[in-house]
Amino acid sequence: MDKILIRGGKRLRGEVNISSAKNSVLPLIAATLLSGDKCIIDNAPMLDDVFVINDLLRSINADVKIDEKLQRVTIDTSNINRCEPNGELVRKMRASFLIMGPMISRFGGFKLSLPGGCNIGTRPIDLHLKGFNALGVKVNIGHGYVEAYADRLKGDKVYLDFPSVGATENIMMAAVMAEGETIIENAAEEPEIEDLGNFLNSMGANITGAGSGNIHIYGVRNLKGTTYKPIYDRIEAGTFMAAAIATRSKIKINGIKEEHLKPIIAKLAEAGVYIKVDGESLIIDADRKLKAIDIKTMPYPGFPTDMQSQMAAVLSTVEGTSIITETIFENRFMYASEMKRMGANIKIDGRSAIIEGVPKLTGAEVRATDLRAGAALIIEGLSAEGETQVLDIYHVDRGYVSIEEKLKKLGADIERVKQ
Ligand code: EPZ
Repeated sequence: MDKILIRGGKRLRGEVNISSAKNSVLPLIAATLLSGDKCIIDNAPMLDDVFVINDLLRSINADVKIDEKLQRVTIDTSNINRCEPNGELVRKMRASFLIMGPMISRFGGFKLSLPGGCNIGTRPIDLHLKGFNALGVKVNIGHGYVEAYADRLKGDKVYLDFPSVGATENIMMAAVMAEGETIIENAAEEPEIEDLGNFLNSMGANITGAGSGNIHIYGVRNLKGTTYKPIYDRIEAGTFMAAAIATRSKIKINGIKEEHLKPIIAKLAEAGVYIKVDGESLIIDADRKLKAIDIKTMPYPGFPTDMQSQMAAVLSTVEGTSIITETIFENRFMYASEMKRMGANIKIDGRSAIIEGVPKLTGAEVRATDLRAGAALIIEGLSAEGETQVLDIYHVDRGYVSIEEKLKKLGADIERVKQ
């Protein structure tokens, strides 16, 4: 297992280029199953999770070519079968369940291993299944599998008790060739949902309102292949903003969409950070006195849960008391014990983390427990005095392309040690 070594205390400077969004590319790759044609995804991030979902598609006989140099994924799903994919592969990544909707659309049914939970929560799928049921899909769960089948798919209205991102995406893909109109109410509004809607429409779907709380899907007879460039990764951009703040630096971030970063920019401005957006780039200057703030994670357009750990790393070094409340996942504070090893003062009280800023953090050996916690520990290491070793860096590789290379280019004293 690789680890990352950081000798902290150095300012960052220069520019960083953001990759395309992991949480957009994964549903887009699942959606290629709907076309029975060839799809090309350009500027695809070469992430472990992208390789996993492509292996999953290969396991049902999709022809997938990945050009790492061109960052292009070409997927031909004309010869896919409905063999049950390798359970190990499915359980490796929760997003695997996003192939359920497309396979129901394409074949009228499918059998898939139940997606595992993960470190941050149980990750149920009840809202996905509620949507499938509304479309006339019968679902059996047993022996660790979900088996879904439908004689025909008929559009209907679905109200999501919670604006689940994955459930919204799966239901969109199950409804896209159903008979008549499907309306998803209280749908997730994340930018990645809008991106999926645009991708599906570029394949010939008829979807309006993706990215709003009410999505209308008018069933079409079939979908064709497409070429598409996904949106930038707003969470990667936010992560580099957090790295700049933790080191009190001024850097330029290329590859952003201001609209998608609004909740993050608003919260950081509250802390006293200077941010100036210029088209698809922004300048962030944190070389100034910062203020403790309170954060509550909410579904988009609220503050994103995927930035919660990174903000804890930042606020650990800001004088005063900050409170972070996590309302989306039940177990997303696992980084706290690791950060305490570096001198952070964090108390967990139910769904809140109470953070007292300390004048200085000290480097230590710490362990990544999940993707964003790993990124947060790297951010702490950049700010801490001395050397930090972040173990189990495979968690971070799931969602960040060569994070240590991008930070090194910004002047960080950081390297990956292959184990
Ligand atoms: C997506 O996960 C993202 N993953 C997550 O990013 C992100 O944290 C999450 O959305 C919230 O924004 C991808 O897009 C691949 P949800 P997803 O369904 O779809 C409950 C990262 O770090 N829920 O919106 O699984 C669930 O328990 C990852 O990049 C149900 O109750 O998230 C959770 O509390 C982590 N029933 C809440 O909704 C369901 O059927 C949010 O889950 C589904 C979800």
